[in-house]
Amino acid sequence: MRITRSLGAFPLALVLVPAALAAQPLTRPETEKKIDALLAQMTLEEKVGQLNQYSSAFDVTGPAPSAGHQKVMYDQIRQGLVGSVLNVTGAEATRKMQQLAVENTRLKIPMIFGLDVIHGYRTIFPTPLGETASWDMAAIEQSARVGATEAAAAGLHWTFGPMVDIARDARWGRIMEGAGEDPYLGAQAAAARVRGFQGKDLAALDTIAACAKHYAAYGFAEAGRDYNTVDISEQTLRNVVLPPFKAAAEAGVATFMNSFNEIGGIPSTGSVHLQRDILKGEWGFQGFVVSDWGSIGEMIPHGYSENLEHAAQQALTAGSDMDMESRAYVGHLAALVKAGKVDVKLVDDAVRRVLRVKFALGLFDDPYRYSDVAREKQALANPAHAVAARDVARKSIVLLKNEGGLLPLDKATRTIAVVGPLAADKDAPLGNWRAQAVTGSAVSLLEGIQAAVPSSTRVVHAEGVKLVTGERNFMARSTYNTTDRSGIPAAVEAARSADVVVVAIGEDAFQSGEGRSQADIGFKGLQEELLKAVFEVNRKTVVVLMTGRPITLGWTGENVPAIVEAWHGGSQAGHAIADVLFGDYNPSGKLPVAFPRVVGQLPMTYARKNTGRPGPEPGVTWSSYTDVPNDPLYPFGFGLSYTSFAYSEPKLSAAEIGRDGSLRVAVTVTNGGQRAGVEVAQLFVRDLVGSVTRPIKELKGFQKVELQPGQSRDVTFTLKASDLAFYTAAGKWEAEPGAFKVYVGGNSRDVKEAGFLLK
Ligand code: BGC
Repeated sequence: MRITRSLGAFPLALVLVPAALAAQPLTRPETEKKIDALLAQMTLEEKVGQLNQYSSAFDVTGPAPSAGHQKVMYDQIRQGLVGSVLNVTGAEATRKMQQLAVENTRLKIPMIFGLDVIHGYRTIFPTPLGETASWDMAAIEQSARVGATEAAAAGLHWTFGPMVDIARDARWGRIMEGAGEDPYLGAQAAAARVRGFQGKDLAALDTIAACAKHYAAYGFAEAGRDYNTVDISEQTLRNVVLPPFKAAAEAGVATFMNSFNEIGGIPSTGSVHLQRDILKGEWGFQGFVVSDWGSIGEMIPHGYSENLEHAAQQALTAGSDMDMESRAYVGHLAALVKAGKVDVKLVDDAVRRVLRVKFALGLFDDPYRYSDVAREKQALANPAHAVAARDVARKSIVLLKNEGGLLPLDKATRTIAVVGPLAADKDAPLGNWRAQAVTGSAVSLLEGIQAAVPSSTRVVHAEGVKLVTGERNFMARSTYNTTDRSGIPAAVEAARSADVVVVAIGEDAFQSGEGRSQADIGFKGLQEELLKAVFEVNRKTVVVLMTGRPITLGWTGENVPAIVEAWHGGSQAGHAIADVLFGDYNPSGKLPVAFPRVVGQLPMTYARKNTGRPGPEPGVTWSSYTDVPNDPLYPFGFGLSYTSFAYSEPKLSAAEIGRDGSLRVAVTVTNGGQRAGVEVAQLFVRDLVGSVTRPIKELKGFQKVELQPGQSRDVTFTLKASDLAFYTAAGKWEAEPGAFKVYVGGNSRDVKEAGFLLK
């Protein structure tokens, strides 16, 4: 049997906690003493209760529990057999639910209430992938902070976010929930989101506990099919998958969630290696691990557990502290302890971890402190939140193509046609995982354009075709293969008589997300047909993409002169897109994940290995496709501006550095255009020879620089020898001596190069 080695008022204005201010540690001597005292009083059953989590009646992750289930849940809450409830929300409902526990149980231990607050609670920000395209950690932190402020005022204590899964396969629908393909950018975003949700004090009334999920490698599902098998090396796990989790742990994240997938035959939920050895051992994590929804029970169909009792034994032993909706612990754990199959010390440790977070949230001081109807009302109506959402949304938009300077548009254009199934859609921009957003509450693109132009500009709208038929919600299996062409002629007429056409196409809100894997990631339904028909009569066509994931653009990418990726931009999407289309905001977003040319290139990443036959060579016997190029349509880090930026050759402060040394990489970035703009300068390295082979490029730093027309600025990165460390063949996290290349540029493809030696 293994035991873990270490047991171990923010006002409504948007004030951020500077990164330098460390978060309060979860373990404090006085709290640990209180936990000791509480544990000493608890029966085994009461202990198990702390590890049991149910979902309230809800409409997000599964069918609403029957009256029977609700009754069992309420009875068990009264008996102290439930430690946490998810999907109960609102100051009033949470207060009532909390009363059940506090007023009826012997020890009056408050419950912890969780919800998926992923990119906002009521005010919705861009989907996390979109937000990450801002490369703006303050913006990302602010988004999480607004979500936390609203959620905490609505009685919530805990969000199941951030999702920090690295994903390199856009077939996987949940790519929208994370930070994209890169572990360095992913680690920065993970830490920013944890800081935003948790602030520096979990007891503050505008912070909530965060949860780094899904631990681990859920984003590496084979063939991009959700919940599918993962089989990766320890090197890929340590070098690619884990860095954002480690960053979240270092930022003080209070909880982790394990994942549905197996890795190399071991379901994460039952993985001692992931949960005990790495997370609680090597990283000294003091918070608790919640299972994913039913993931303990799912070890049975995985073929890893014989039955629910066996699953409970394996999961608890492996370090899964709280059981979300499997009923495995509440049903079997006490008996397992009594039978000597699970050491009670492991149960005590799990309970201690849960209680630690409850103490840190201040729930023992006042279990109702977050359930305040007046504060809820005020927080949800705070106009500053909409302002923040618009700001983050426009920073997230990526300009993919702009031939002939079609963009920005002139507000005084005589007639603008706004066309496409997403043009007037007030729901799609909210995206998936929209917590308590009001359905259909986003500012549509049409509304955004109408609000931006003077009354002398005529804005005509035609939907053209529909994208979705049937239900649109988290559980619905919607169809996107509409066949109704009757709206196309009107759209063509609108386009013919307009000076410019804006076509909004892409994905519906629920087309990406959990259970939304797609084998084909091109435009669904008749969208491309509509676009072609419109383009035929008016070449001045701008495509606004609203998508959760990268999609394959095909004909559109080759023919349409201007393409803007606006993601699912949240409550203020329409205004934010209009800000960019008319040049009130000069786009500065950069892709956090590549756009492939065709789906068959997936999975893909700029940080690939070189192979023994890298090419390009004449003939066929090198690592390439015979039908499409190897590279993506738009690489990681790519994004245009209405101005242009030039980079000097990088200058290094030293040709060699020692094992504890560092060097500076300096480049001059110049704005060569007519407008002020913001550039994201990116630093990559390549370790030429390693005890295990290294990627051909790895992001090691980035800086956002604002430049006036004609202005130049020196951008300096400091590269420490420790930044070159990786998980070596010897199983150590260290840098290996040898030759390195350094690349600097505005994306992962267009870079200037230099080199140095690590002694
Ligand atoms: C998802 C998690 C989520 C949980 C609770 C699961 O289906 O995988 O990401 O936090 O449901 O809603």
